[in-house]
Amino acid sequence: MSSTSSTQIIRPARTLQGSLTLPGDKSISHRYALLAGLAEGTTRLSNFSTGADPHSSLACMEALGATVVHKEDKTIEITGTAGKFKQPSAPLDCGNSGSTMRMLSGLIAPHPRTFTLTGDHSLTRRPMERIRKPLSLMGAKIDLAEGHAPITIHGTPLHAIDFDTPIPSAQVKTAVLFAGLQANGTTSLTEAIRTRDHSEQALKAFGATLNRTTAASGDVAKLSIPGNQTLKAIDATIPGDISSAAFFLCAALLFPDSNLILDGVGMNPTRASLLDVITSLGGKIKVLNVEEHHGELVGTLQVNVSPNGLRGMHIEGALAAQIIDELPVLAAIAPYTSDGITIRDARELRVKESDRIALVAKNLRAMGAKLTEHEDGLVIPGNQKLHGAQIDSGTDHRIAMAFSIAALRATGDTEIHGAESAAISFPEFFTHLNDLCQR
Ligand code: S3P
Repeated sequence: MSSTSSTQIIRPARTLQGSLTLPGDKSISHRYALLAGLAEGTTRLSNFSTGADPHSSLACMEALGATVVHKEDKTIEITGTAGKFKQPSAPLDCGNSGSTMRMLSGLIAPHPRTFTLTGDHSLTRRPMERIRKPLSLMGAKIDLAEGHAPITIHGTPLHAIDFDTPIPSAQVKTAVLFAGLQANGTTSLTEAIRTRDHSEQALKAFGATLNRTTAASGDVAKLSIPGNQTLKAIDATIPGDISSAAFFLCAALLFPDSNLILDGVGMNPTRASLLDVITSLGGKIKVLNVEEHHGELVGTLQVNVSPNGLRGMHIEGALAAQIIDELPVLAAIAPYTSDGITIRDARELRVKESDRIALVAKNLRAMGAKLTEHEDGLVIPGNQKLHGAQIDSGTDHRIAMAFSIAALRATGDTEIHGAESAAISFPEFFTHLNDLCQR
């Protein structure tokens, strides 16, 4: 993150009206950037994420020998290394991006080079043992600094493993799949809680073979990926980011007469549980024009709100894992619901770009809310009135944006400190918020 901190003042709003096309999905942008860098040929991507994080992935690919060209029509062309990464001349800078660091580790571990991966203050505090462990089982040689970055990888040929993922993490799953793609033998991986499957879809799009089988009980899936595969470049348009859409969907929920249309939103079923949550809370969602591109569903969403106001809900178990990135904004609007929102089984929030449980609790309290903090979540009663306050974003993009939404129904103005962090995933956020809010 840039060291210049900026503050945004958010005034209360009367309603939210209008339409929006969202920048490309952050998760898919990362995966296409990384796989394009490994593939043979030139990949052409439209609607690549404008967030800083996927651009860290692109920069790492350039450092590894891929060519990246930003065209005038905003498409990005990536000419891959045809499976041969070069020795980078400097450490690979992953910026604020855990996705870059973890997924890239799996991608480069089988290449006969020495790589160092670094990141910013937040990233170098995040847990990396979770990728070192499975990659080491495959034969990778990885050094961490007390479980954290900087990471040093002494690239070496890898062999297949059977791996049970101990935590629901798409990034860990991806690190194993990307390594398995290039290992000797067929790697398999089971996940008890299904996490986002963009890597599986992206690998298939780039021409890889990959199988998914589900146990008879239906709740444990096994993925198998044969090794020594090569990838071919693709042309793709990246669907709009549903996690960025979440902020505006939640903003719409706050006003009974709001009307919001979001075009070209990614609706991959492993991400779209958010839409069920919005419906449970009282949103009315119409899904129009659904299409599929490279295994990813894309559609237009129209959102209105029940005149009866917002209901509350419990979010726990698999659902908490599936909407992990949307939990801060759901928590931030929880006091405005009638029955409150309970979030449990979300311990992973403590090791995101910030400790999101602690920061949500601190900032909701600053706005006058009552709540209970648990190690794995928050219990936030409903029917509360909030007032404007000084918000500490902790330079975490999702905290800055979540509290900008809470501020819309508060009395008085709210100051979001570290607002520049929104650019990690959504640089246009404050402009769109201003355009859509009527005051
Ligand atoms: C992501 C997976 C999630 C999510 C992150 C993006 C991905 O992290 O929180 O923002 O693109 O795979 P975990 O895999 O650590 O759960």
